[in-house]
Amino acid sequence: MFNNDLKAFFADKETPFYYYDMKLLEQTLDTCASAADKRGFHVHYALKANFNDRILQLIQAKGFGADCVSGNEVKKSIDMGFDPGKITFAGVGKSDKEIRYALSHGIFAFNVESIQEMEVINDLAREAGQIANVSLRINPNVDAQTHHYITTGLDENKFGIPNSELEKSAAVLRNATNLKLVGLHFHIGSQITDLNVFKSLCVKVNEWKNWFEERGTTISVLNVGGGLGVDYKNPDGNAIADFEAYFDIFDKFLERNANQEVHFELGRALVAQCGSLVSRVLYTKNGVKKHFLILDAGMTELMRPALYQAYHKIEKVGSGEQATINYDVVGPICESSDCFGKEVPLPISQRGDLIAIRTAGAYGEVMASNYNLREEIRYIYSDQL
Ligand code: LLP
Repeated sequence: MFNNDLKAFFADKETPFYYYDMKLLEQTLDTCASAADKRGFHVHYALKANFNDRILQLIQAKGFGADCVSGNEVKKSIDMGFDPGKITFAGVGKSDKEIRYALSHGIFAFNVESIQEMEVINDLAREAGQIANVSLRINPNVDAQTHHYITTGLDENKFGIPNSELEKSAAVLRNATNLKLVGLHFHIGSQITDLNVFKSLCVKVNEWKNWFEERGTTISVLNVGGGLGVDYKNPDGNAIADFEAYFDIFDKFLERNANQEVHFELGRALVAQCGSLVSRVLYTKNGVKKHFLILDAGMTELMRPALYQAYHKIEKVGSGEQATINYDVVGPICESSDCFGKEVPLPISQRGDLIAIRTAGAYGEVMASNYNLREEIRYIYSDQL
């Protein structure tokens, strides 16, 4: 993908920058939307993965809802034209100010994560003279088989209401005059590549749905969260995640009643592959044991490798050369963790060469920082070509 045409297009551009392939984004959104529509599923886009305006505009225009985890994300999605009736608000620590803001915009539902939070939302809704829609986020204790930092559905994780407190939660809900239970919510983790994990999730969702229904509670929405992984190793060969296979699992294994809606909160699978971080080689350096490529992008632009030891494919832009040597590809930040990859086979490179770090559209620019007083992130979109 990063051929000589792109090399020519990038030649006079200041680096580093995020490059977004808007066509690929559109194809990904269309593929997801058609697979979901076919099954009557609803998808909320998880803004936390990427809240770049151009990206949000397109996602909103395609009719997706929004999944937010802060008052500012709720505000951003409303400002970008998302229908408040399709906005969910999740997170273990919503502040009073954030709850009030979301209440005043009539969002679709709060995904509540503790009994105390339910009580606070009930009080604030009463104060505002409103009824707040809530979904109970249940911690189902399902292992997502992913990195431990992005595993969220185990007993030891801070997320969701533990099974031991569900009885009490149901009682609190029955007495809460200003809450309306719309559904159950689950999210077990991110970058899940073994689809069997979602089968296990379905089994738990069915159990908890039955548990509530046996107690006479109507559940209108089953929100199964996000988490579908992408192929970091082969971004060109697998540019679009297998939405058909993913939705199929829920279609087959979730026991939905008539009129019961199934909602998803997908982030990574929608935006990861359309984004790449493009950088220039500042210096090459031969260490005692290593060849280093020192880039003008660092962990301040893309933190995933430093934070999660995450793999991102690294390519030389527009390179037809065959011979490679192994480089440690590092950034300019004063930390040894500022490393994008060790022993990466790349064509022999020199100062000024362009390097692309792929699959960086999700949890890339949103997690950037200005540590070391770095410059603000720049962007280039494929339709400027
Ligand atoms: N819903 C909830 C409640 C979530 O916590 C998340 C992600 C999502 C949906 C979207 O999940 P996705 O479809 O993107 O997997 N910074 C990490 C990922 C953190 C994910 C946090 N929660 C990374 O760079 O891998």
